[in-house]
Amino acid sequence: MKDIVLNNGISIPRIGFGTYKATTEDGYRIILDAINAGYRHLDTAALYENEEDVGRAVRESGIPREEFFITSKLNRNYLGYENTKKEFDKSIKKLGIDHIDLYLMHWPRPDFGSSDFDDWEELDRESWRAMEELLKAGKIRAIGVSNFLPHHLDNLLQTAEIIPAVNQLELHPGYLQKEAVDYCREKGIAIEAWSPMGRARVLKDPLLSDLAAKYGVSAARICLSFCLQSGFIILPKSTHIDRMKDNLNALDTVISDEDMKKICSMPETGWSGEHPDRETIKP
Ligand SMILES: NC(=O)c1ccc[n+]([C@@H]2O[C@H](COP(=O)([O-])OP(=O)(O)OC[C@H]3O[C@@H](n4cnc5c(N)ncnc54)[C@H](OP(=O)(O)O)[C@@H]3O)[C@@H](O)[C@H]2O)c1
Repeated sequence: MKDIVLNNGISIPRIGFGTYKATTEDGYRIILDAINAGYRHLDTAALYENEEDVGRAVRESGIPREEFFITSKLNRNYLGYENTKKEFDKSIKKLGIDHIDLYLMHWPRPDFGSSDFDDWEELDRESWRAMEELLKAGKIRAIGVSNFLPHHLDNLLQTAEIIPAVNQLELHPGYLQKEAVDYCREKGIAIEAWSPMGRARVLKDPLLSDLAAKYGVSAARICLSFCLQSGFIILPKSTHIDRMKDNLNALDTVISDEDMKKICSMPETGWSGEHPDRETIKP
């Protein structure tokens, strides 16, 4: 199955195209290439500064808007009720569309070191209230979060009327965030894997290379198929058309239970160093 159904009944393609670092004229071309390769689920964010490129590529593809699933994200430095409404309006204008399919809070806290860093609990709850209103007004089809660990979700759920539909987390072989994943599964929150290939850092891992040879596919494909078989929605990014197409075929490879277990027991590898509650550690 190419789609899954979120906890509010809407369908989402299990493979989306990640657009981080696809910016400027080149960004537009990359996104249009991805659409032509077959992607209909596009993952952007205010932070990526390419919402205009995403909107332009969608329009110029000639494919009806309804065939796309478009995600954008609220910048972590603009949390709070009023900010959320203003930031959402900016995103929708830049995208040039009348609704966003999925809108996420990008991170639960402002940037490390910012003056609001310690005020996140109230800011998150207020952002969520604004997002719930935007959802009820029909401007968003599903709302969710990103990089939320269980304690961030516990805080949100104290006042939330709507349970997040999605939590987008860094997930790939070598970084599996089991506690957050188990929490989301228990609450019916769908899980999206960002950097599902560990931004290419994990592709030379010996176990993944061995499995790639065994299954006759690339190590990238092993990462993506592993994430899909774990039940995650995946958001691979590539600037190369052949890789875009190969990544889109990740549902075709079936990894055995025994090999899935081996990947699950890999030591921590390829983590980006980004953590919602701490300063980023450079990998
Ligand atoms: N919510 C968040 O906080 C957050 C954070 C980071 C990312 N994201 C989302 O997740 C998306 C994906 O993450 P990402 O871009 O960091 O990492 P990624 O998709 O895991 O890795 C991208 C890297 O892998 C390479 N690659 C892609 N396909 C390949 C293949 N088949 N074989 C070999 N190498 C391949 C790409 O190189 P080429 O481009 O040269 O092919 C690029 O260097 C982002 O674009 C963004 O939408 C979200």
